[in-house]
Amino acid sequence: MAKIAVMGYGTIGSGVVEALSVNKETIAKKAGEPVEVKYILALRDFPGTPIEDKIVHDYKIIAEDPEISVVVETMGGVEPANTFAMAMLRSGKSVCTSNKALVVEYGAELMETAVENHCNFMFEASVGGGIPIIRPLYECLTPDEVTEIAGILNGTTNYILTEMDQKGVSFDDALKQAQALGYAERDPSADVEGGDACRKIAILSSVATGKRVVFTDIHMEGITNVTTADFNYAAALDMSIKLLGVSRMADGKMKSMVAPFLIHSDYPLYNVKDVFNGIMVTGNIVDTLMFFGRGAGKLPTAAAVVADVVKCIKLGSVSGTIPWSRDVLKPENYLDYTNRFLVRLPESASEETQKLFKTEQILRGVVDGEMAVITAPMTEAEYLEAEKTCGQVIGKTRMYQ
Ligand code: HSE
Repeated sequence: MAKIAVMGYGTIGSGVVEALSVNKETIAKKAGEPVEVKYILALRDFPGTPIEDKIVHDYKIIAEDPEISVVVETMGGVEPANTFAMAMLRSGKSVCTSNKALVVEYGAELMETAVENHCNFMFEASVGGGIPIIRPLYECLTPDEVTEIAGILNGTTNYILTEMDQKGVSFDDALKQAQALGYAERDPSADVEGGDACRKIAILSSVATGKRVVFTDIHMEGITNVTTADFNYAAALDMSIKLLGVSRMADGKMKSMVAPFLIHSDYPLYNVKDVFNGIMVTGNIVDTLMFFGRGAGKLPTAAAVVADVVKCIKLGSVSGTIPWSRDVLKPENYLDYTNRFLVRLPESASEETQKLFKTEQILRGVVDGEMAVITAPMTEAEYLEAEKTCGQVIGKTRMYQ
């Protein structure tokens, strides 16, 4: 019998306990022994519920219990999650987390500590909810140099953008629905302003490059400025708009950005809708792979945590190696990245204005009183200069290519 503890009994923590109970036999078979939750670390007492007798309020009870081999961390946030996770690892207990804030901040240190203490630190659920992406990226793409990761990494914003695109629902109403469905972060600004996707692309980029990527070094734009008019242009071009995290690696350097992109219906990511996430990974040997599934929600995320728990039980005191070191890989300055842009302008915009944007295509009649131009590839710096000189830009969206 493997005895484990769960720290944090919110949406994901309770999902882990539920998944372990619902699929008890299947999980026992795969782990090689039954898996029992001995402790749940929570702030409340949950009187009269089946978990009442498992509740503890002091993490040291878990850290000091030699029976516990694996600890799930689903508290969220950097502290006290880091202190608690470190204490567990130093006691030789493997830690499985869904907490991307913790992984992006202290991933390298936590992995080093796990190796030093003959246990493991796993974080499959920190990116892409139920989608297996961390382990495939790290373990299955071993022969490859990863050259690109492009992902729809936030379920809440993908849900909102899909509702806006397909039903013309307002941004605010779609966000409320996403919150009611339990997809959104406690503070939804992390979803809609891109911080959540930014942390996730930082983690994936760290796994792919073997170096720490600091998420605040990544240029980030959220979806709060996306309007239904933008979707009218997208529809006219047989495209949609998706919040993408994109990292491109070449010659030891990396370009990385999170922003809304127009994406053509020819690309598989176009069809990733609602709360689903999709991640395309390109390697120089394997070519392009696509990972798809529910990127948020109680049970899908819990599934990824439980998979890690089972992996840790099977590994016992054998430590996996460390996916990335403490060395920082800083993305190149985003002003040097080259993109095509769709630029919305007043209907009366002059030919000179069009030239400023290296116009390749003009769209008229999509939105009353407006025209839009599609630019040739230009650097972000060139685009910003053109926008400033023009002074008439209504909106812009980058085009994924
Ligand atoms: N708020 C996140 C999302 C939850 O919507 O994708 C999963 O990280």
